[in-house]
Amino acid sequence: MTTGQGEPDVRKETGEPQAPSSRRAAASLDPDARPPSPFRIVFAIVPLLVIAIVATNLLGLWTTSIQEATRKETLSEPEPSREETFDVPAPVAEAPAKPAFDAAVVVARLADADPAQGATVFRMCSVCHPGEKNAPPKIAPNLWGVLGRAKAAAPGYAYSAALKAKGGTWTYEDLADFLRNPREFAPGTSMAFAGISDNARMANLIAHLRTLSDAPLPLPGKAR
Ligand code: HEC
Repeated sequence: MTTGQGEPDVRKETGEPQAPSSRRAAASLDPDARPPSPFRIVFAIVPLLVIAIVATNLLGLWTTSIQEATRKETLSEPEPSREETFDVPAPVAEAPAKPAFDAAVVVARLADADPAQGATVFRMCSVCHPGEKNAPPKIAPNLWGVLGRAKAAAPGYAYSAALKAKGGTWTYEDLADFLRNPREFAPGTSMAFAGISDNARMANLIAHLRTLSDAPLPLPGKAR
């Protein structure tokens, strides 16, 4: 037994080629001998990958710089093509899908507008405005019966001087102009609302506001 254990040690020291059985013995003696082998493969592959990636990037930079260089060489030509790029926006400007806001267009559309859709638009107004008959003002005046009513005249509400100074009643046209851009219609108004610039949306909304009344104003174009 003792001679059998001593044998491999002697051979290791002398550097003699080991028999397969003794190699196995050495491996089992050294617990680190097996696990590192997969890591060694990874350590060998990772630098190769890094080199490959760096090389590809460099190659890419190199080719793009060559492409740029060749493009610069042909730069004497592009003068006319630059003019062409100025021509491109023209058709885009020619085709505005939406017609610009126009209070007259809104009024003309009222007869065919959809008050039910306008009621959904009105939801954002009702954050500030009540719309039910006899409801007290919230942070904004009640809009029941607003069409045809004198401007800044709902009872129990403190209007801005700007809106009070406008005078007259709320016509379809004035209402459309006001709601497109309140601050432009009445500079200094306390209505913090950006405005609605879509003709169809505005027509639907005003068609709904019209229904908030005991006696809705006649629809333009239908009144005869
Ligand atoms: C952030 C709150 C707020 C929202 C949202 C808002 N308003 Fe107003 N609105 C006000 C205030 C405040 C006034 C009073 C303005 C003043 O005195 O200058 C006002 C005034 C008005 C008036 C004038 C009323 C009158 O009696 O002369 C109308 C009409 C009106 N709003 C309609 C609307 C409609 C329609 C919407 C939705 C598209 C809307 N507002 C959204 C706050 C709001």
